[in-house]
Amino acid sequence: MLEFEPPQFQGHAHHLTKETYEEMYKESIASPETFFDKMGKNLLHWHQPFTKVKAGGFHQGDVNWFHDGQLNVSYNCVDRHAIATPNKVAIIYEADEPGRAQKITYAELLRKVCQFANTLKKYHVKKGDRVAIYLPNIPEAAVAMLACARIGAIHSVIFAGFSSDAVRDRILDAECAVVITADQGMRGGKVTHLKKIVDAAIEQCPCVKTCIVFQRTGDKSVPFTPERDVWWHEVVDNQRPVCPPEMMKSEDPLFMLYTSGSTGKPKGVVHTQAGYLLGATMTCKYVFDMHPNDVHGCMADVGWITGHTYIVYGPLSNGVATVIFESVPTYPTPSRYWDLVDTHKVTQFYTAPTAIRALRRLGDKHLEGYKLDSIRVLGSVGEPINPEAWLWYHEVVGRKRCMIVDTYWQTETGSIVVTPIPGVTTTKPGSATKPFFGVELGVLDSQTGQELVGNDVEGVLVIKSPFPSIARTVYDNHKRYMDTYLKPYPGFYFAGDGVKRDKDGYYWIQGRVDDVINVSGHRMSTAEVESALILHPLCGEAAVVGVPDDISGEAIVCFCSVKSGYSDITELQQSLRAQVRQNIGPFATPKRVIIVPDLPKTRSGKIMRRILRKVAAKDVTLEDAKTDAGIREKLGDISTLADQSIVKILIETAAKQ
Ligand code: WTA
Repeated sequence: MLEFEPPQFQGHAHHLTKETYEEMYKESIASPETFFDKMGKNLLHWHQPFTKVKAGGFHQGDVNWFHDGQLNVSYNCVDRHAIATPNKVAIIYEADEPGRAQKITYAELLRKVCQFANTLKKYHVKKGDRVAIYLPNIPEAAVAMLACARIGAIHSVIFAGFSSDAVRDRILDAECAVVITADQGMRGGKVTHLKKIVDAAIEQCPCVKTCIVFQRTGDKSVPFTPERDVWWHEVVDNQRPVCPPEMMKSEDPLFMLYTSGSTGKPKGVVHTQAGYLLGATMTCKYVFDMHPNDVHGCMADVGWITGHTYIVYGPLSNGVATVIFESVPTYPTPSRYWDLVDTHKVTQFYTAPTAIRALRRLGDKHLEGYKLDSIRVLGSVGEPINPEAWLWYHEVVGRKRCMIVDTYWQTETGSIVVTPIPGVTTTKPGSATKPFFGVELGVLDSQTGQELVGNDVEGVLVIKSPFPSIARTVYDNHKRYMDTYLKPYPGFYFAGDGVKRDKDGYYWIQGRVDDVINVSGHRMSTAEVESALILHPLCGEAAVVGVPDDISGEAIVCFCSVKSGYSDITELQQSLRAQVRQNIGPFATPKRVIIVPDLPKTRSGKIMRRILRKVAAKDVTLEDAKTDAGIREKLGDISTLADQSIVKILIETAAKQ
């Protein structure tokens, strides 16, 4: 088994050493109140200091932290640095077009945030109102988020890859009166028609009164409805660049972000002010070993939780420069990331295994000539990283002198929960290693719910007690929060992932144990894709599974039984694929659609996905299908199927299509 000692960074003292870390971790678990009292006071600026650190718990679903304290998140992320270091760079915007980077200082950011906060007020947005943000990965997205935080509005950022149907559902669920978007987006040299998509969505959203449109490309043909739409530049520039921050109670909601679970409808996961901000701030400081002059390069999109926490809130709260990267790693060439790192002297670089695998496949020549010597920490997030990709990251990108942090967390946890720590943790490629401060993990037997104690065990991952940045509820549906996360194993938070704890107590995340598929780090539920397919006029029934994929981690395979009335199967498959794109977005496009006469169901009518998963992954072949014994050997017991002959038909059909 490969193991790597944490490197010592040249000329840089780490925030933690093995000794201080051990002591702090122990205290964070044994006396969370003392530990987080110190963290909360040292790392955040409070308008009204808290006196109570922690209350509630997983049993009742009433977790709360610092609840009598008051603060403002935008003050913490912007004002305090604009006061102390006004000319320091806050945001480096690396536009889609290479060579067009722009820098925004903390003083400038403060003015922009205030002007936009005043704009929101002009359109009657008040504390507690929900605001939808559908923007490209540009500084204005961060400005809009921070402006919401400034006045206490709850932002709901919708990733700009979602289709109009998905945007509509999210706006309606949160009853947003204001939507913020751009005329168009640019990604990898391609135009996306954001305003058109938003228009199609809000046509069906009577709650929307105002749409604020940022001019990203300036295309003249972009639709504009004067009684509802306003141009960002026309209205924002007229606002006063001063806006007093609203004082927020720690447990007031800060934002909601939709994510997929086992059931069809995405949930609006709600994060609160202080606990979330503390999680974001602490993990940036300790996991990325952030120091004042750092340039943090998180390559995610602000539309996902990684962008919320590690592009916007965490780095800015720490007062460093944060990179907003609008493009893709291969545009205009596969050297784009490395060019960005050397140009901006990025100190922490954070991306997803899918990008690492894709770049590795394209060859090391794309890294030649790049120094990459500014980087100290290389992070990975979104899905398990296979050891080959880990080693490539370490050797070819990190030149064997960077700390690799494989960080495990979720939209719901708000910030990193399992991770190595620079200067402290011995890493093992493929393992997210150990829990972060305040996080106590458990491994349960999935069937009995019994906790598996000791090392060398495998089961489902749970978190045993609340930590500050854990999500507090699902928007307007606390029951769903309870049912999804806290009821499956009472007293514990159920993460939905399988895990192994090895002989040294290291955690190895094994992927989802529910019906969630992770495609290039994008989380989708099989039910969501199935609901999209069913909307196709010819689709009778659909079952969706994930299959392993070398680059994207997992890929979507759909099995559809269809009504008669089609002539060309390839065309039908294409139109089913298009249906998913239209309903969810291009990132959810199925890799394969297999048209089948029927689905494998139990006598009670439940689809046996286990069979479909094996068929889709080609784990069972035509050769196996020749005999019942062959089928049984590969698929296990299929006696609960209503019609066992369907299995052979499925294998044959899948092989043909
Ligand atoms: C998966 C992204 C293994 C996991 C921050 C989790 C990971 C889901 C890792 C959350 C990792 C994330 N190793 N698996 N380092 N990081 N995952 O909500 O299945 O988009 O439950 O949050 O991604 O995805 P989400």
